[in-house]
Amino acid sequence: MLTVSNLSVQFGKRILFDEVNATFTQGNCYGIIGANGAGKSTFLKIIAGDIDPTSGHVILEPGKRMSVLNQNHNMFDEHTVLETVLMGNKVLFAIKKEMDELYADYSDENADRIGELQLKFDEMNGWNADSDAASMLSNLGISEDLHYTLMGEVEPKLKVRVLLAQALFGNPDVLVMDEPTNDLDFETIGWLENFLANYENTVLVVSHDRHFLDAVCTHISDIDFGKINHFSGNYTFWYESSQLAAKQRAQQNKKAEEKKAELEEFIRRFSANVAKSKQATSRKKMIEKLNVNDIKPSSRRYPAIIFDQEREAGDQILNIKGLEASSEGEILFKDVDFNMAKGDKIVVFSKDSRATTAFYEILNNNVKPDAGTFDWGITTIQSYLPADNHSFFTEDLTLVDWLRQWAKTEEERDEVFIRGFLGKMIFSGEEALKKGSVLSGGEKVRCMLSRMMMIRANVLMLDEPTNHLDLESITAFNNSLKNFKGSVLFTTHDHEFAQTVGNRILELTPNGVIDRYMTFDEYLDDPKIKELRTKMYS
Ligand SMILES: Nc1ncnc2c1ncn2[C@@H]1O[C@H](COP(=O)(O)OP(=O)(O)O)[C@@H](O)[C@H]1O
Ligand SMILES: [Mg+2]
Repeated sequence: MLTVSNLSVQFGKRILFDEVNATFTQGNCYGIIGANGAGKSTFLKIIAGDIDPTSGHVILEPGKRMSVLNQNHNMFDEHTVLETVLMGNKVLFAIKKEMDELYADYSDENADRIGELQLKFDEMNGWNADSDAASMLSNLGISEDLHYTLMGEVEPKLKVRVLLAQALFGNPDVLVMDEPTNDLDFETIGWLENFLANYENTVLVVSHDRHFLDAVCTHISDIDFGKINHFSGNYTFWYESSQLAAKQRAQQNKKAEEKKAELEEFIRRFSANVAKSKQATSRKKMIEKLNVNDIKPSSRRYPAIIFDQEREAGDQILNIKGLEASSEGEILFKDVDFNMAKGDKIVVFSKDSRATTAFYEILNNNVKPDAGTFDWGITTIQSYLPADNHSFFTEDLTLVDWLRQWAKTEEERDEVFIRGFLGKMIFSGEEALKKGSVLSGGEKVRCMLSRMMMIRANVLMLDEPTNHLDLESITAFNNSLKNFKGSVLFTTHDHEFAQTVGNRILELTPNGVIDRYMTFDEYLDDPKIKELRTKMYS
């Protein structure tokens, strides 16, 4: 068990945590959520002992071991892959190192100390450490020929997996991770979801990935107003139940018993769905024990993302023939032949993010293809959310003037009208007069969304739309796209987004495309497609 008592943290005048008391219980997985800058990372660093709180204590039950997923990808560059994993169990690694040194310089005086160390080493199952580490690496798709390679020579994607293996190595009693899915591909995230869902020990994890939170969490720990509150259930349960409770609060005519019955019915339906889900886990059982009293109305503000269409498009949306693109002589994709139907919401997918970005840049006339053509239907109005938006923010305009650049009529140029769009994205009052140059990454994306809402397109193109956004914005954005009546082309590393918005998958590979009308999960799970994908990338 891990306990936090009377914890306060202050940076200058800013109070981040104010007398926080919280207990993290054995066997539970806590998904830590909160707005950007709420203090999630700071909290984990305090738990890990990397920084000291202003006052208060973190108490880990004696004899228990904590492990932290390393955020610094280059810290182990001088070590081999296998050694990096072994270092995850610090105590064991120190014993082994001392033993090796003493053996190298063997003498009668050393013998006693060696015996002592060997005993501890035995107790910790040290003789199996190398093979345990090796099998963990192999499970994560790091083949044996890489185990003795230096970390500095390992490609970034695989490095993240090695660090993951390091954190998980030796079954820590408490596992701490800050946004672990950020640099992982879908396969590795899927592996991690499964691993953690069946993990018997305590996990504290900060994440913006709703699919991941839903798959692994038994509790949501919400950081808000300097406090931490635990809620039973996963993210979707927390979100939907707190929305329902907030709605009930406004329904003054409804009797208390009716509200309670409604919440109970909600829990019953939710639990039935969890039981049906394919995540085979010991965690799942805990999610089935949900309680009406745990449900609290949400005090969060969600941005109002609403994409209206200026006019509905006709039947011709987009026709692509023989499209091909490359980067520095390397083919990114070729032979793209495809016809977009009205209402299609297409997940544009690739193992190489340069391919998907090149695809959008071509469709928006920012880059010329190496071969092929594309035609937009004459009734289409497109708008594009690029992955890199810095070219939009080079002039130092206030947000009102910035957004005015996309006004089409005199009425739309009006300040009150523009502030309406900014207000929907939670830039209110003074904030609308901020300069573009001081905005954070998340604020810039919110501006870009205000812009898209104002353009009122009937075809949206979104390249990694959830980057930099907080969970509230991602959730609101996701809901708005589910409801959008037009057509969408989008690329995302957010599994939930892809699964709930997309009805068709278009995968771009150096050897052509795979194009299927199905959900994203169906696509990832289909064994024939898996085989095809392996072939197309080789
Ligand atoms: N060492 C520090 N000194 C001063 N302010 C800090 C320090 N570390 C973090 N902060 C501030 O504390 C707030 C919380 O940061 P962080 O824990 O990284 O938030 P989160 O992970 O929830 O986005 C931010 O406003 C950040 O700028
Ligand atoms: Mg953080």
